[in-house]
Amino acid sequence: VTHGELVARLRAAGCVFAEDEAELITEAAAGSASELERMASQRESGLPLEQVAGWAEFCEVRVRVAPGVFVPRPRSELLVVAAAARARPGCVVVDLCCGTGALGLALARSVAGIQLHVADIDPVAVACARENVVSVGGRVYEGDLFEPLPTGLRGRVGVLLANVPYVPTAEVGLLPREARDHELRAALDGGADGLDVARRVAASAPEWLAGDGCLLFEVAEHQVAACTDAVVRAGLTANVERAPDLDATCIVASRPGTR
Ligand SMILES: C[S@@+](CC[C@H](N)C(=O)[O-])C[C@H]1O[C@@H](n2cnc3c(N)ncnc32)[C@H](O)[C@@H]1O
Repeated sequence: VTHGELVARLRAAGCVFAEDEAELITEAAAGSASELERMASQRESGLPLEQVAGWAEFCEVRVRVAPGVFVPRPRSELLVVAAAARARPGCVVVDLCCGTGALGLALARSVAGIQLHVADIDPVAVACARENVVSVGGRVYEGDLFEPLPTGLRGRVGVLLANVPYVPTAEVGLLPREARDHELRAALDGGADGLDVARRVAASAPEWLAGDGCLLFEVAEHQVAACTDAVVRAGLTANVERAPDLDATCIVASRPGTR
């Protein structure tokens, strides 16, 4: 496949940034014609670019993305920035619902010396996260929310990142086809109002947070009031942070009077 042919094929398949994608796919194929053909066909069939290439750029860090694993979104960089403002060197950081582990990895790259623990319920995501966080000494666990974490972390977590699924069930069908077809439903669907998993995380967070620890999770703007309510029910206070340029909103929850 020549560069021109690749661009034309990608454009015909509906890729808006066909030139850029062609360059990226060519780089990922590393000179192998058969790899290039395989990747071109995968992209034509609608696989997300990051799953085709095998990596995504997130917070200026190259993150491995395995097929089927949630592709880290640019808007989630707000969670990393908000966490970096609160994480101290040496602090225990947990990345729950970690997917590729992109958030924990990016935080570990920006704050030296954190102790990183990441967990997800999906074994494919867990394997992918293991590849990503090994370079920063992260520990990786598989299971439902807090259940697989070592009990010794109870009461010691300084920063609890949880980019949970938060799309209301009725809206999953409105997501781009790439997400619907190539990311697990469990990575997207947050139940009737989107907040089933967020509520469970908020309810258990006080058991795991250090006295001055905080929980950070991303929401849609219309979910802010219901999330604040869930956080307050858990005995925490909620601060809202926004990055309009990223179309991002996150809730930072902590014990009253601590932050
Ligand atoms: C929205 S994705 C976020 C992934 C990653 N944190 C990121 O930002 O790229 C949600 C992730 O939560 C995981 N997940 C869903 N339900 C879970 C549960 N009950 N326990 C642990 N992980 C869960 C999914 O497998 C998926 O990887």
